[in-house]
Amino acid sequence: MSVKKFAKESAVIMTEMVLPNDTNTLNNLMGGKLMHWMDVVAAIAAQKHSNSIVVTASADNISFQQPIALGNVVTLKAQVTRAFKSSMEVIIEVIAEDIPANKKIITNRAFFTFVAVNKDNKPSSIPELVPETAEEIENFEGALRRRQLRLVLAKRMKPEDAVELKSIFNLQG
Ligand SMILES: CC(C)(COP(=O)(O)OP(=O)(O)OC[C@H]1O[C@@H](n2cnc3c(N)ncnc32)[C@H](O)[C@@H]1OP(=O)(O)O)[C@@H](O)C(=O)NCCC(=O)NCCS
Repeated sequence: MSVKKFAKESAVIMTEMVLPNDTNTLNNLMGGKLMHWMDVVAAIAAQKHSNSIVVTASADNISFQQPIALGNVVTLKAQVTRAFKSSMEVIIEVIAEDIPANKKIITNRAFFTFVAVNKDNKPSSIPELVPETAEEIENFEGALRRRQLRLVLAKRMKPEDAVELKSIFNLQG
């Protein structure tokens, strides 16, 4: 597919409030609920880039650095970092806000991979992504290494073929 799209065209911002049904027994947001929101916002970004139905192929190492409390407002920002043949990497940033206390913190950042599929559920080709800002270019360049790491871990790529990944560890061969 020769069509190109800018990274910013895939940008999505989703806002949620942590309600009692979303929390654990400590009155903090359940990790699974946050992952659900991350999956939704990232899928919308992937759909915007590909103009296609997409499926989640993988979610990279999500870590929970800070609890998000009942009543906090959660903003999830997602944007495609790079498009490959049928798959695309999406960065998701999660910001939790205690509005009455005027406090805002970035609680999570993660990368999800989505695959565009046709009506027969087969992978289909997607537009090339063009990064513009310094941050978009950095994310675009890192996406190739992250793709190789996740494909090696998923046993879909031989470690010796992960050339860009080797370069960050200064490995020979
Ligand atoms: C993702 C899926 C469509 C891949 O199908 P497949 O027949 O293995 O297709 P391919 O081997 O041709 O791979 C297609 C693309 O997926 C990527 N991919 C496959 N597995 C991946 C993984 N674990 N992590 C990242 N990317 C992956 C491949 O790298 C390839 O990308 P490219 O076309 O950009 O080079 C298929 O595995 C699937 O449908 N999985 C279930 C998706 C789903 O239900 N998600 C919700 C989970 S609850």
